[in-house]
Amino acid sequence: MSGDRIPLAGVIGSPIAHSRSPLLHGHWLKTYGLPGHYIPMDVPAARLEETLRLLPQIGFVGVNITIPHKERVMEIADVVSDRATLIGAANTLTFRENGTIYADNTDGYGFIENLRQNAPGWRADAGPAVVLGAGGASRAVITSLLEAGVPKLYLSNRTRTRAEALRDDFGQRVHVIDWVHAGNVLEEANTVVNTSSLGMVGKPELRVPLDGLRPGTLVTDIVYTPLETRLLRIGRELGCTCVDGLGMLLHQAVPGFERWFGKRPVVDQATRDAVL
Ligand code: ATR
Repeated sequence: MSGDRIPLAGVIGSPIAHSRSPLLHGHWLKTYGLPGHYIPMDVPAARLEETLRLLPQIGFVGVNITIPHKERVMEIADVVSDRATLIGAANTLTFRENGTIYADNTDGYGFIENLRQNAPGWRADAGPAVVLGAGGASRAVITSLLEAGVPKLYLSNRTRTRAEALRDDFGQRVHVIDWVHAGNVLEEANTVVNTSSLGMVGKPELRVPLDGLRPGTLVTDIVYTPLETRLLRIGRELGCTCVDGLGMLLHQAVPGFERWFGKRPVVDQATRDAVL
């Protein structure tokens, strides 16, 4: 934190009006009675760098970064964490006392913490994972699943070449499956994750055949509007352990809040209620 100033943080994206992060950080600041403000900022790409250089000078201790700037900030930051480098994108910047910008990616951390909290019996290394989708969110999920010890990871995406590019980056535990055959590997899965935007309000449903899901398989979705997607509903009906995607959003915010405001926040039902 910078001297006796009230610490400021926020989220930068464009558009930014729908971001839940101000509700989340505002809730934690209030819950813990901490001085500080968290502000949404709509910044176009052309103004991103100058904004990031200016913010520390007016009391900002860090910012979250969202669409469309998560890749671009990697070039602007002075120091980039290994995790952000592996994912190829950053979502959490810290402005250090020495004037440098430190970029990190906490999406994979948020993904795993959500599962640890809501499915305590789940173990990544107990069997293969199936990951649907190969966009930016998929990179974070794959990174964290491999790090958590998944022995084999089937990756399926409508555009196969995008999945192949991820396999080339992540190595031999990743196996690409055609989108039309994704349903065939579900019965082998210990973990199933939708990282695509399918199933989100305003988007088509995820139509992968799900009858291969076995009871006890961990099924999760990064989509959280609605909280129960078709994948999670059918998974629940088939006896799977289902975890919704809201917790990933909440947990990915924890490291930033702790760094900026000096308190590690707890993710609980009140936190969920604050952003819904
Ligand atoms: P993010 O960075 O949030 O992951 P993204 O990079 O746009 O967003 O990726 C969105 C994912 O949803 C991709 O896997 C995309 O598949 P493509 O690579 O084929 O585009 C997937 N997706 C979006 N709409 C889809 C649709 N109608 N059918 C199948 N997959 C879809």
